[in-house]
Amino acid sequence: MVTATLSDIDGDYRGKKVLVTGAFGFVGSHLCKRLVHARAQVTAADINVCEDRASLINDEQLRSRVDVVAVDMASVASVRELVTGRPFDVIFHLAACSVVEQAAERPYDAIQLNTMGLVHLLEMLRITGQDSGARLPTLVLSSTDKVYGDLNGNPSCNEQSPLQGLGVYDAAKLAADVFAQAYHRAFRYPAVVIRLCNVFGPCDFNTDYRVIPRALRRLFERPEPKPPILYANAVEHQRDYLYIDDAATALLMVGANPACQGEVFNVSAACCWKTPDLLNEVVNCAARLEERFDQDRAMLIRQNSLTIYPENPAVIAIKRQHLDGGKIEQATGFRPAVTFAEGLDRTVEYYRDYFSRRW
Ligand SMILES: NC(=O)c1ccc[n+]([C@@H]2O[C@H](COP(=O)([O-])OP(=O)(O)OC[C@H]3O[C@@H](n4cnc5c(N)ncnc54)[C@H](O)[C@@H]3O)[C@@H](O)[C@H]2O)c1
Repeated sequence: MVTATLSDIDGDYRGKKVLVTGAFGFVGSHLCKRLVHARAQVTAADINVCEDRASLINDEQLRSRVDVVAVDMASVASVRELVTGRPFDVIFHLAACSVVEQAAERPYDAIQLNTMGLVHLLEMLRITGQDSGARLPTLVLSSTDKVYGDLNGNPSCNEQSPLQGLGVYDAAKLAADVFAQAYHRAFRYPAVVIRLCNVFGPCDFNTDYRVIPRALRRLFERPEPKPPILYANAVEHQRDYLYIDDAATALLMVGANPACQGEVFNVSAACCWKTPDLLNEVVNCAARLEERFDQDRAMLIRQNSLTIYPENPAVIAIKRQHLDGGKIEQATGFRPAVTFAEGLDRTVEYYRDYFSRRW
């Protein structure tokens, strides 16, 4: 089995020209931070690059250390402009409509971005590479565990498990996942697909949708704590969770390893939770932290029980997900380094500070 330390990974990216799409989002911004730390030359591309946007990348020191480019990945002309005359060594393609509820509300837009965004990128790189004879950049696609659909009684999914794509988000991401593999087979395109589980950590500003930041917004927003919400169809849900630093490490590892090209990898999780149990952990962790500041509010946080909302029938939610991460461990040595408890402590601390500063 291969093992690489964090400094080995940093060394792999030193001086490299790296493009991150969706760079102002949760995963993209953390990845840019790691790449800047590794002294890569980073191009941070996103459709929304506003300086007042909530994003880790707008942290002063980080924004000034990357080349910020506005791009619409759903537009082939915009993608052509992005890649023309910019010879990248590695590309991390993260831009997406990443919220299943939003994909169900605007399915065509979600497909145009989540599927065609990747196709635009691969096709423009293939054509420009053909014209100039330049080496093609490695492309890492951030895919999802949702491509497998439900576990259907199996303990976990490995990379050979059947693919389903049940909802709009899931199907659009699955199509991109398949196209990345097809371009490798047909054109020897150096693409790698990495299927992430639920990633959590500081600076995820999807606080109206994602289960952990949404719960923490409700618990820490003023004036009084509100109970976390759960949709009726999520009561039985089971999901894998991985801390953001580990997700960034996994992406960097597969992007730097030529043996990973043409391959698909599940990413192993730090843990697997039923959603109601996860939310109870979040409430307990938030109350423990609040006790250090305000005993009365901590008691109110602790008294919160989950509020069950009626489900949205357009959102096709998978019941049980769990990934087998054996293949990536074998190929790169990747294993989560941050335990769920440690990651949750850091996350809760961040959001308490973030929401109390906004009050
Ligand atoms: N966060 C997770 O738990 C998770 C799990 C599995 C897979 N993924 C995948 O990882 C990737 C990153 O997820 P995230 O959590 O950072 O999502 P995010 O929503 O925080 O970030 C997505 C970014 O894409 C940008 N974007 C939207 N439309 C665009 C367009 N037309 N052109 C260019 N950029 C556009 C957004 O502005 C945003 O900054 C996504 O591809 C997602 O599907 C995420």
